[in-house]
Amino acid sequence: MKRRLRSGMSAGLLAVAACVALHSPYSLAARDAQTILKETCQGCHTPEADNALSRISHQRKTPEGWLMSIARMQTMHGLQISDEDRRTLVKYLADTQGLAPSETDGVRYAMERRLNTVEQFDDQTSQMCGRCHSGARVALQRRPAQEWERLVNFHLGQWPSLEYQALSRDRDWFDLARKEMVPLLAKRYPLDNPAWKKWQSSAPKSEALVGDWSFSGHLPGKGELAGVMSVTADGSDTFKVSVKGQYADGTPFNGDGSAILYTGYEWRGNVTIDGVTMRQVFAAQGNAMQGRMFEAEHDERGLDFVAAKQGSQRLLAVQPGYVKAGSETEVTLIGSGLSGKPNFGKGVEVVEVVSQSPEQIKVKLKAAANAQPGLRAVTVGTLKGPSLSVYSKIASVKVVPEFSVARIGEGGGSTPKVQGRFDAEAWGKGADGKPYRIGVFPAQWKVEAFDERAKEDEDVKFAGTMHADTGVFTPGDAGPNPARKMSTNNAGNLKVIAAVDDAGKSLTGEGHMIVTVQRWNNPPIP
Ligand code: HEC
Ligand code: HEC
Repeated sequence: MKRRLRSGMSAGLLAVAACVALHSPYSLAARDAQTILKETCQGCHTPEADNALSRISHQRKTPEGWLMSIARMQTMHGLQISDEDRRTLVKYLADTQGLAPSETDGVRYAMERRLNTVEQFDDQTSQMCGRCHSGARVALQRRPAQEWERLVNFHLGQWPSLEYQALSRDRDWFDLARKEMVPLLAKRYPLDNPAWKKWQSSAPKSEALVGDWSFSGHLPGKGELAGVMSVTADGSDTFKVSVKGQYADGTPFNGDGSAILYTGYEWRGNVTIDGVTMRQVFAAQGNAMQGRMFEAEHDERGLDFVAAKQGSQRLLAVQPGYVKAGSETEVTLIGSGLSGKPNFGKGVEVVEVVSQSPEQIKVKLKAAANAQPGLRAVTVGTLKGPSLSVYSKIASVKVVPEFSVARIGEGGGSTPKVQGRFDAEAWGKGADGKPYRIGVFPAQWKVEAFDERAKEDEDVKFAGTMHADTGVFTPGDAGPNPARKMSTNNAGNLKVIAAVDDAGKSLTGEGHMIVTVQRWNNPPIP
């Protein structure tokens, strides 16, 4: 079953300060983690053999996961702990009881706050566990059967009305959770995993991240960007960060900040770009960093980010990644250690190398009029990775994300609006008849009523405004609107339509956007 990510419906509100804390380097701890565990947690958690504590010592999770557990201790159980002690503990627990890179693979979208992700879990997990919060919240934990069982007990004890809700009252939720979900979760997400042991003994030292990184990114509604991120050491596992880059349209992307490394690879940065604080959630391994960088106050405004350490050899991206058969275009290769002449495959010729450095090569390309439509592997010397799309005509247009949620806000309240941000992806048809992705194209954007109901309620008029050139949708103000039927709020159910021009021919694609109310509960892992 496919599900959209959304926030939990918990009674427990997370302190906002707690989320901020994860991204800021902690000062040298006044108290060490062992002391805090003893003095702050041991009151309720029973000491066990080998310096262990009940519950706490039998789970592994991400830094966000540990932060949420401890924040829950504060909101639900009256735990008193200073922000500084909590930071020390999250760091210690994420380092000693974290997840190996392979264990977070495929579910990093939750930490990266890609809230429009449509999750792919089996039906039972989606219905039993993924209906109040993301399935990723479950997949980002490791426990033995007993700890999964206690988690189930905690859920029912904390939220007894759970059994009367949809997808529970039609079945014996508690019995299924204990008898079917617990064994399944213990098998799928076990506490003991050789990958974690291996990572603990082989994780590179964090000093290895110090240096200059060449990066490439893409921000929906704005376009591609590239630049250099400089990282200097600033304490153990903490860094100073400075970013110097530029969007393809010339807009600068410069700023400074700091970062902290958890679990040997979980990079969490806080960088202020042009006065706006952005968070970095990256997996930093060896010479590669990858993840998402998004505005702290607007996680929907974020860019896909990939970086290679200078001195290493890697080809990261081709911007833009397409060329039309029979035409000439300028593209930029981004990477590190780039040398030699790039090759773009059959039917594509390098007319001129405009500029060349180890981080960027700008070239003028020409695709032959009869070049076969499809993907070409791009190479520079022995380096490969990205591909170039050659097309003669666009076959179809997709709106990305296909399903999305925007939220009304402000209107006198303190909750910001959550925008909708879209890309128009052009797709071609290969010689084999199979569709292939050409790339993101400029488009003209509009919204329409999704159905009769939305038409009748005039959702298009009230729910917000689509910016025609960028595909950025800004929802309406929060609160009741006397101009609407029954003074309802500015929610809406809309089609998102992109029109892409291909040599005078207009092709359209369609997505679906729900404009809904504010997200009141916004935990670090949705
Ligand atoms: C006032 C009592 C109290 C204190 C103090 C306390 N806890 Fe808990 N803790 C609980 C209770 C009760 C549960 C079981 C119910 C639950 O999961 O909320 C629990 C459960 C947990 C769990 C398991 C959660 C899960 O998802 O299964 C973790 C992890 C945890 N505590 C960590 C800590 C840490 C770390 C500290 C110290 C910073 C701490 N606790 C301090 C009462 C406490
Ligand atoms: C009725 C809604 C609901 C259902 C169903 C539900 N959860 Fe939760 N779950 C919550 C809420 C609310 C929280 C607490 C969020 C917080 O700490 O702010 C939570 C927390 C969690 C956590 C984090 C606990 C921690 O401290 O580490 C995990 C893991 C989890 N759930 C797994 C599951 C699993 C597995 C299932 C299915 C067996 C499930 N959930 C079903 C609502 C639900």
